[in-house]
Amino acid sequence: MRIVKEAKNLSHKELKTWVNEVANLLKPEGIYWCDGSQEEYDSLCNQLVEKGTFIRLNPEKRPNSYACFSDPSDVARVEDKTFICSKFKDDAGPTNNWMAPAKMKKTLQPLLNGAMKGRTMYVIPFCMGPLGSPISKVGIEITDSEYVVVNMKIMTRMGAAVLEQLGEDGEYVKAIHTLGAPLEQGQKDVKWPCNPDVKYIVHYPEERSIVSYGSGYGGNALLGKKCFALRIASVMARDEGWLAEHMLILGMEDAKGKKDYVAAAFPSACGKTNFAMIIPPDSFEGYKVTTVGDDIAWIKPGPDGRLYAINPEAGYFGVAPGTNYKTNPNAMETIKSNSIFTNVGVTPDGDVWWEDLTDKAPEGIVNWRGEVHDPASGKPVAHPNARFTTPANQCPSIDPNWENPQGVPISAFIFGGRRSTTLPLVHQSANWNFGVYLAATMGSEMTAAAFGQIGKVRRDPFAMLPFAGYHMADYFSHWLKFGRNIAAPPRIFSVNWFRKDEKGKFIWPGFGENMRILKWIVDRVNGRGAAVESPIGWMPRYEDLDFNGLEFSREDFAKIMTVDREEWKEELLGHQELFEKMYDKTPKDFFFMRELLLSGLWRSPEKWI
Ligand code: GTP
Ligand code: SPV
Ligand code: MN
Repeated sequence: MRIVKEAKNLSHKELKTWVNEVANLLKPEGIYWCDGSQEEYDSLCNQLVEKGTFIRLNPEKRPNSYACFSDPSDVARVEDKTFICSKFKDDAGPTNNWMAPAKMKKTLQPLLNGAMKGRTMYVIPFCMGPLGSPISKVGIEITDSEYVVVNMKIMTRMGAAVLEQLGEDGEYVKAIHTLGAPLEQGQKDVKWPCNPDVKYIVHYPEERSIVSYGSGYGGNALLGKKCFALRIASVMARDEGWLAEHMLILGMEDAKGKKDYVAAAFPSACGKTNFAMIIPPDSFEGYKVTTVGDDIAWIKPGPDGRLYAINPEAGYFGVAPGTNYKTNPNAMETIKSNSIFTNVGVTPDGDVWWEDLTDKAPEGIVNWRGEVHDPASGKPVAHPNARFTTPANQCPSIDPNWENPQGVPISAFIFGGRRSTTLPLVHQSANWNFGVYLAATMGSEMTAAAFGQIGKVRRDPFAMLPFAGYHMADYFSHWLKFGRNIAAPPRIFSVNWFRKDEKGKFIWPGFGENMRILKWIVDRVNGRGAAVESPIGWMPRYEDLDFNGLEFSREDFAKIMTVDREEWKEELLGHQELFEKMYDKTPKDFFFMRELLLSGLWRSPEKWI
């Protein structure tokens, strides 16, 4: 096989053998070992510009940045094509698609055979977590997509330094990615190659390996992210006694300089990036919020009995629409340069635009389908799941400890869904077990981050429904057991920024104002914030929250805090449905906790506020 670029620091024999085996099956034109250098990144970006995949943005407005439009069939994660191929079906559980590993391999074999014809095969050594950290883990992604290489360069620590760390016999996760779009001799490539008909995102948890076929987009193709850092890592975490979670990590420093870190799990496109980067309102003098991560947390018990979290990623792959200088100024500053924009609009002067970036779409803007936008069409300029890829270290609120190899100590876990009714703005669970129950029974209205029925409420336990690499009920038990073994478990909270009024408008202003809720949570952790006991846990009264500088009425507060018995009866039916789906493995404690909730609701006023 032709070597397009030699490996640097490669002394791992088994890795060499594996790469050759993969090349023999996928039959690329040549093999390119990525070194992770800036020159390599620039040259691949240039190649993507020449091919027409990338549009170089105006260097005066958006230095060293690119935009691209994906194929309209390839715009989000494909949950129905995502498989957990454990040996036994029962280890994948009822919430995952499953196929026996041998059968899946037989299915994939003919698809992979020759899948890279006419393309270069890139070998990407990457590290999830800071290089050298005891919590970090190495992966090797093989891909035929230049887009994937340059995105992985931003999202992970990538290149020759990783091979050096791997040494002669280091462990790594094997991850094969192909667009599933081989080129016959002389065939011209398209701008966004993918396989519009066949897609497979496959995980072999026992082997700790991944095969992704047919998509070039986001979590389907950047295999360090959801495939490794959540699905495979959650299995490693179960086996080794830690947690791999779909969580942001932020630090909050109060006016006296006391700092707490919290980790929060919200489903896809439900506000993790925004919350991780909030800027406190002016009335919070002396308060500071810092960002450790916006999507994934790996959490381990430390020697002092506390939990320590790292962000395994090095960049943000964030939702663009809705991001602006009011909702998320830190994100706006982060993406000023060195960023890749996928499926946003491109302005005539070579900058990017998306819905709500400004009031009105600039005249003559090209939409994500590559057409000049017609405001009368009613179609959006950016795809609702349009994303930016941007380096974490460009974020103005980046936490000084974000690359600390030991991680940061976690004081609280927050779980939140997108719910227009039922769930209050904030409440605190009575204890760890109830907190686990609360997280396990989370519901959320579906978003554009995955194909599906947008707006429909579905149970999304721990915001991990699409990302747990094993049986969801075993995952619940892992959390319960994990809590029993830590001396100082974080407190557990639930939030909902998305409750709506009769007219369908969000009642809570959200974004920076979420600081008021964060402060109450941190106060609770430190034994300060006042609260009353509600039928579902501890809740703040109006006077317990800091509304300084915000006009928010008692009436509106009542609207977003009401615990309505009828709504909750419906909610508890949803819990029951989830438990029955996995009855044999659901922790028995959950059935009792559900009963306890129900009787609490009956003993309280019909509408508790
Ligand atoms: P993934 O990257 O998909 O895992 O999602 P994420 O949770 O990081 O999503 P992100 O922070 O990018 O959320 C994007 C969507 O949530 C946008 O539509 C935002 O406008 C909306 N959003 C974020 N915070 C708030 C909030 O406080 N209130 C309201 N109403 N919307 C919010
Ligand atoms: C999500 O969908 O939760 C994401 C985006 O963070 S992706 O990486 O595409 O999965
Ligand atoms: Mn995510």
